[in-house]
Amino acid sequence: MIASIRECIKSMKKILDERLYMNYPLAPLTSLKMGGQAELYAIVYDVEELRKIVTLAMSEGMKTRILGKGTNLVIQNGLLNGIVIRLSGTLKEIKRSKNRIGMGGGCPLSFLLKEAITFNLDGAEVLAGIPGTLGGAVIMNAGTNQGSLGDMIEEVDILTQGKIKTCRAKDIGFSYRGSGIKNGEIVIGARLKLNSGVDVKEDIKKSLQKRRLTQPYRERSAGCIFKNPEEDLSAGKLIDETGLKGFRKGQIEVSKKHANFFINLGGGIFDDFVCLMDIVQKRVYQKFRIELRPEVNIWVNEDEK
Ligand code: EPU
Repeated sequence: MIASIRECIKSMKKILDERLYMNYPLAPLTSLKMGGQAELYAIVYDVEELRKIVTLAMSEGMKTRILGKGTNLVIQNGLLNGIVIRLSGTLKEIKRSKNRIGMGGGCPLSFLLKEAITFNLDGAEVLAGIPGTLGGAVIMNAGTNQGSLGDMIEEVDILTQGKIKTCRAKDIGFSYRGSGIKNGEIVIGARLKLNSGVDVKEDIKKSLQKRRLTQPYRERSAGCIFKNPEEDLSAGKLIDETGLKGFRKGQIEVSKKHANFFINLGGGIFDDFVCLMDIVQKRVYQKFRIELRPEVNIWVNEDEK
């Protein structure tokens, strides 16, 4: 290891102490339970710590990745270079004032649903059952066919080049499962506005029941693998119609319940996962002349891309 990197890690250690790890296993931190180790893994408690760590990483040209709940994530096997950062402490908090809610980038979406139930706030029920954290959910404008997170966002705070900028929702460029937030920009928090609702708990219960009936929610998966090619055209339905439900590559299987989910049957490996993605994309293209685009985030070493 070159001397300047050693110095950089020493400086990170001074800031984080036992919250900085080397060769840290990532699979247990993902819902798919697959992937290798992070060269460096850091848990940061506030914006200042995050800013310092990211600035140090940048000074050494280290790849920086933010890990939320790892529910939409597919990680390569072996050593993943750079630093993986988890937002915790104040970056995981949620605060409410009437129908306005402030959330940290590392705050689970389930906390938002709890607030919505407790205070009968309408709007967030469309996110019921989406398991991620706010940061990742903002970047990909997470949602269901009832609506998306972007619809309730007022402002987002982003850490970029060591500085915090606040963006209004209209400037974020929310689209279907996407936003204009760039690679390397980190969502540190957002403010949302909900409406006064009636029986929000019942609506959330119904959405969760529907998901449980139609999706393999108890199994090891990364959620939907591909974006829907059009709003009313389900990638799952298209894959289903190619007859690939239950098809396996190694220990990775196209779910028998919802074809846009891949299941890790146990000991699944990255190469099989991407090979299965390729097979599915080709079969859907052959049958429908439609190109499926990945919805999942894929983490590989830059030089292996
Ligand atoms: N369908 C099939 N076979 C399948 C899957 C679906 O025929 O294997 C049919 C269903 O019967 C239904 C239609 O396709 O008639 C739509 O299915 P579903 O309601 O499950 O919705 P989806 O479009 O497949 C989207 C989101 C899900 C979200 C659901 C529920 C995307 C890519 N997917 O799926 O989000 O949970 O709506 O609102 O936008 C995710 O983002 O990770 C995710 C799972």
